[in-house]
Amino acid sequence: MSEKSHETLSNLLQEKRRFPPPADLAESANVTAEAYDAAAADRLAFWAEQAERLSWSKPWDEVLDWSNPPFAKWFVGGELNVAYNCVDRHVEAGRGDRVAYHWEGEPGDTRTLTYADLQREVNKAANALLELGVRKGDRVAIYLPMIPELPISMLACARIGATHSVVFGGFSAEALRTRIDDAQARLVITADGGYRRGKPSALKPTVDEAVAAAGSVERVLVVRRTGAEVDAQERDVWWHDVVDRQSDEHEAQPHDAEHPLYILYTSGTTGKPKGILHTSGGYLAQTAYTHHAVFDLKPETDVYWCSADIGWVTGHSYIVYGPLANGATSVMYEGTPDTPHQGRWWEIIAKYKVTVFYTAPTAIRTFMKWGDDIPARFDLSSLRVLGSVGEPINPEAYVWYRENIGAGKTPVVDTWWQTETGAIMISPLPGVTAGKPGAAMRPLPGIDADVVDDTGTPVPDGGGGFLVVKSPWPSMLRTIWGDDERYVKTYWSRFPGMYFAGDGAKKDEDGDFWLLGRVDDVMLVSGHNISTTEVESALVSHPKVAEAAVVGATDPVTGQAIVAFVIPRGSAGAEVEGDEFAKELRDHVARSLGPIAKPRQIMIVPELPKTRSGKIMRRLLKDVAENRSIGDVTTLADSTVMDLISQKLPGTK
Ligand code: WT7
Repeated sequence: MSEKSHETLSNLLQEKRRFPPPADLAESANVTAEAYDAAAADRLAFWAEQAERLSWSKPWDEVLDWSNPPFAKWFVGGELNVAYNCVDRHVEAGRGDRVAYHWEGEPGDTRTLTYADLQREVNKAANALLELGVRKGDRVAIYLPMIPELPISMLACARIGATHSVVFGGFSAEALRTRIDDAQARLVITADGGYRRGKPSALKPTVDEAVAAAGSVERVLVVRRTGAEVDAQERDVWWHDVVDRQSDEHEAQPHDAEHPLYILYTSGTTGKPKGILHTSGGYLAQTAYTHHAVFDLKPETDVYWCSADIGWVTGHSYIVYGPLANGATSVMYEGTPDTPHQGRWWEIIAKYKVTVFYTAPTAIRTFMKWGDDIPARFDLSSLRVLGSVGEPINPEAYVWYRENIGAGKTPVVDTWWQTETGAIMISPLPGVTAGKPGAAMRPLPGIDADVVDDTGTPVPDGGGGFLVVKSPWPSMLRTIWGDDERYVKTYWSRFPGMYFAGDGAKKDEDGDFWLLGRVDDVMLVSGHNISTTEVESALVSHPKVAEAAVVGATDPVTGQAIVAFVIPRGSAGAEVEGDEFAKELRDHVARSLGPIAKPRQIMIVPELPKTRSGKIMRRLLKDVAENRSIGDVTTLADSTVMDLISQKLPGTK
C-alpha cells in the first residue's frame, strides 16, 4: 500500500476503541439502521419523505432537477415559507408555550422566548423591514452579537423573502464592507455592541466605517444592547423605535423552494471571500432531518445547546433553522467560555439541564488544557448526546469529551460538513453506530460521499485519498453569489461530475470514514503523504499534551519534515520545558504511527494561532518552522499569539 503513497494518504493511525450506543438510546432512537437501506433503495424518495416534515404551501412537481449540473434545483415548483415552518406552525399546533430559546447573556442577564413570543417578535421585525423599504429579493446584512434579535432578524428576512447575509461580529470594517458590497445589501442590522470577556465590545463604529465606504446601504437598524454611546448617522434607526411599535401580526407569503434564503461568506484563506448561496426548501429539509437524526432530538423533552456563533454556518443550521424547524428548545449564549470563570459552559448546562450539546474540537482541547477538575464541579448528568464539528476530533479529545463531559456514557457524534454543504453529511447516528474515537464514520442516509484517489477512482477499504460527494444533496450550495464560473471551478472541476470538498480522508478496514484535514495541509515526507491530523492526534494522545499543530517544513533530505507545535496540559507540571520532553514526544509519535511520522522538531508553545472560527492557521506556523517572517495575521482571533509563540522558541532565529 505504501508504494502508492504519492497518490494516496498513508493510513497510519490505528484506533481500536469502540463505543456502542447505550441500550435505552438505541431502543427509542429517532432513526434506526433501516434509514440507510431506505435511502439506498431510492435516494430521491427518501429525501422527498424528509421534506414532508415541513409544511408546504404548494407541493413540488419534481424532487430534483439535475438537468444542468452542477446547478441543482430541489423540490421544483414547491412553495413554502421558511419562517412559518420555523415558528408559526408550532404555535398553530398548540405548542406556543414551548420555549424556543433560553437566552443567556454574558453578564448573567437572561431572556426566555417561547415559540409564541418568537412569532410576535419575528412578525414585528418583518413589518419593520417592510416599513424600511426592504422587499422580497433584497439583501440584508446582519452584524449582531449573540442576542435574540439575531435569529429574529434572520427569520424576519426569511419571512418576507429578503436574503440575509450574516457577518460574524468579530470581523473588521473592511471585511464587513466587502461582504456588504458583494451582496449589495440595502439594510444593515447591527447593535451598539455586545458583551465579550466581561466587557462591552462596540460594533456600531465598525458598521459606520464599513457603510461609509459601501454604496448600497440605505438604512442601518440598531439594537441597543450595551447602552454604549453611538455616533448617530442620518441613515440610522433604533430597533426599539421602529420594531417595537409594529403590529405583531404578519401574514407569511409562500416563496419558491429555490428562493435564496441566505448568503454566507466563507472565511476563504486566499482570495476574495466566497458568498455561499443557500436556498429554502432543500436547505430546511436537510437541516431539519439531520438535526432530528444526528442528535436524536426529541422536541418535547430535550434541551439542546449548540455553542457556535450564529455568524458561522453551524449557528445558521443548528441554532436557527434545523432546531426551530423541529420545534426544539435551545440554549443560546452570548459570551466566551471563561467569563466570569472557566466553568461557565458547564454551569449553563447544569442550569438548563441541557441534554444534547454540540461544540468544536478547539473548545474541547481548551477545556482539556484548563483541567478535568473544572467540569467535575458541575452536574452534567442531564447530557445524553454530545456532538463535535469544525475540525477532525483527535481520538484523545473525543475520549476526554465522552469521559469528562458525558460521564463515560453519552455517544459522541463527530459531524463532518461545510458552509458549502449547508448541513451535516457524514456522522454517526447515536442510536445505531458503534462510535470510533476520531472517525466521522458513515455518510448519512441519502448522502452519496466517497473517498477517491487522484484519478477519481474510489479507494478500497483501508485506503486514503480525497473526500468527494457524488450526487447532489438537498442543502448543497447553489452557487457562489454572482460568480457561477467560480462555483464550477472551485468545487466541480478537480474530479469531473463530483463535488470536491478540499478535504483528505481515509476509509478504514470496515469502510468507515476518517477525515484527515484540508488537502493543502497534507505533508510529503520521504515520498509519503502524511496527514497533519494523524500526527496531531498521536501527539494529543500523550497524557501531557493538550493541543498540537503540525506542519511540513522544507527539508533538504526528506523534502518536507514534520515540525510540531505543542501546548502541554495544565496538569503536566514543569518538566515539559526541556529537550527530554521533546524527545519523549517524538518517540511517542514514532511508536504510535511509525518512524516515518516522527517529527524532526517539537516546539513547546503557550498558544496556537487560530482563526475566529477556531481553525488552526498552519500557514503561520509554517512561516515559523521555515524561519520566514510571519505572513498576514489579520484573520487571527488573537493577533498577539504569534508574538507569544516567537518569544517562546529558543531554537528559532
Ligand atoms: C471544513 C469546513 C461545518 C461547520 C463548521 C466549519 C473541516 C468540519 C469536520 C469534522 C473533520 C471537519 C473540514 C471542512 N471540518 N467538520 N467533523 N471532521 N473536519 O465550516 O468553516 O465551512 O469549514 O471544516 O476541513 O472542509 P467551514
